[in-house]
Amino acid sequence: MKILLVGSGGREHALAWKIRQSRLCEKLFCAPGNAGTSEIAENIPINAEDVKALADFAEKHKIGLTIVGPEAPLVEGIVNEFEKRGLKIFGPSAKAAMLEGSKIFAKKIMQKYGIPTAESGEFVSAEKALAYLKNKGVPIVVKADGLAAGKGVFVCNSPEEAENAVKKILLESAFGSAGKKILIEEFLEGEEASFLAFSDGKNILPMVSSQDHKRAFDKDLGPNTGGMGAYSPAPVVTKKLEKKILKGIMQKTIDAMKSEGAEYKGVLYAGLMIKNWEAKVLEFNARFGDPETQAILPRMKSDILEIMLACIEGNLAEKKIKWSKKHCTCVVLASGGYPGRYKKNKEIFGLEKAREIKNALVFHAGTKIENGKILTNGGRVLGISALGKTIEESIGNAYSAVSKISFEKMHCRKDIGKKAIKKKLSHIA
Ligand code: AMP
Ligand code: GLY
Repeated sequence: MKILLVGSGGREHALAWKIRQSRLCEKLFCAPGNAGTSEIAENIPINAEDVKALADFAEKHKIGLTIVGPEAPLVEGIVNEFEKRGLKIFGPSAKAAMLEGSKIFAKKIMQKYGIPTAESGEFVSAEKALAYLKNKGVPIVVKADGLAAGKGVFVCNSPEEAENAVKKILLESAFGSAGKKILIEEFLEGEEASFLAFSDGKNILPMVSSQDHKRAFDKDLGPNTGGMGAYSPAPVVTKKLEKKILKGIMQKTIDAMKSEGAEYKGVLYAGLMIKNWEAKVLEFNARFGDPETQAILPRMKSDILEIMLACIEGNLAEKKIKWSKKHCTCVVLASGGYPGRYKKNKEIFGLEKAREIKNALVFHAGTKIENGKILTNGGRVLGISALGKTIEESIGNAYSAVSKISFEKMHCRKDIGKKAIKKKLSHIA
C-alpha cells in the first residue's frame, strides 16, 4: 500500500522510520518532510496545511493510507476532506480534533463527563477576566482558547503577569482569532506526564507512558518550548495510576466524544499533572506528541500500520501492541536562541558518527539538504533517541550520540531523564 505522511518534524521522521518497517508499506511519501525523511521516503513539496493539495495528491497517486502528524490540518478538517473523497486517513475529524483546537471545548467536555481537570473560568471580555483575577491568588494560568503553536499558555506567578497575559491575548490579539476567548485556570502542582492511546472511536489501545521536558533549560528553567526531550516509560505513571488514567480519563473521553456525536478516531494524547497518585488533565492533543513519539516508537514492536488501519476500521478491540521492556530517552538538539529568535542554515556535522552509537537513532526535525550538505532549518533541529536496559543506560547512550553532533550555537538540555532516575531512587528508598 502507498502511504502519505503529513508533517515535517521529529515526530514525523520517527513515524516514517516506524512505518517503513511495516510489511504493508510499499512506498512512503512525506509532505513536506525534512532531510531525515528524504533518506527513507519521497518528500513532496506540499505544505502540511494545504489540505486540498494533499487530497489531490492522494487521489492522483492512489494513496492507500494518509497519516497526519501535526494538529493544524486536523483542526482544519483534513480528515473530513479525505473521507468526503473516499480516501483513507488516520486522525480525528475536525469536530473531534476540537479537543485540541479549543481549550474551552475540551474543558466543557471534561466538566460535563467528570474527567479530572483544573477549575477554571472562560472569558471573552478582558474587563471581566481582570475582575475575576482580582479574586484569585497566584500562581494562576491564563490560556488562549485556540491553537497557538504551544505559545498560548502563561503560567503567571504575580498578579501583574496574569493581567499582562490577559491583555496580550484579549486586547492586543497576540494570537489572532485563537485568542478571542481565554481560560483562566487554577495552577496545579505536581509532576507532568504524557499519556497517548490509539482509538477507533469506541475502544482504546494505550501506548507506553512518557514524559516531556517543556522548559528550554536544565532544571526546568527558562521559557516553555515545544519540548526539549522525552523519556519512556515515565515512572510517575505507576501500574495502578495507569489503570485509573485508562478508565477515568482516556476511555471516558472517547465515550464522551461518542455521546457528543463526534467519534474520536486516531491518537488521543492527554497531558497530565500528577500528584499523590492522582492525575488531572492539563490539555488534550489530537495527535502524537513531539518529542514523546521519538521516545515511544523505538519501544514499539508491533506493526504500526496494522494498528492505524484497525482504528479506521473500528476493530481495535482485536489488536494488541507488543512493547519492548527497554527504556528510551530522546534528547532534542535545538538552534541557539530557540524558542525565541534563532539563525538557520548552519551545517550539521557528525550525523554518521552518532548513528554508529549502539542503540541510538537520529531523528531529524528542522533540517534540509542543500548541495549535499545537511543544514539547520528550524528551532528544534534533531532528536537523538536511544534505548537501554535501564533509564541510566538509555540516557548514557543518547548523550554519547549527542556528543558526536555539532552545529553553530547548538543547544540541548543536559538533564533529560534525570527526573526518572530520581523517581526510581525514591521508589526504592
Ligand atoms: P498546555 O499546552 O495546556 O499543556 O500547557 C503548557 C504547559 O503549561 C504545561 O505543560 C504545563 O507545564 C503548564 N500548565 C498548563 N496548565 C497548567 C495548570 N493548570 N497548572 C500548572 N501548570 C500548567
Ligand atoms: N510535546 C508536547 C506536544 O507534542 O504537544
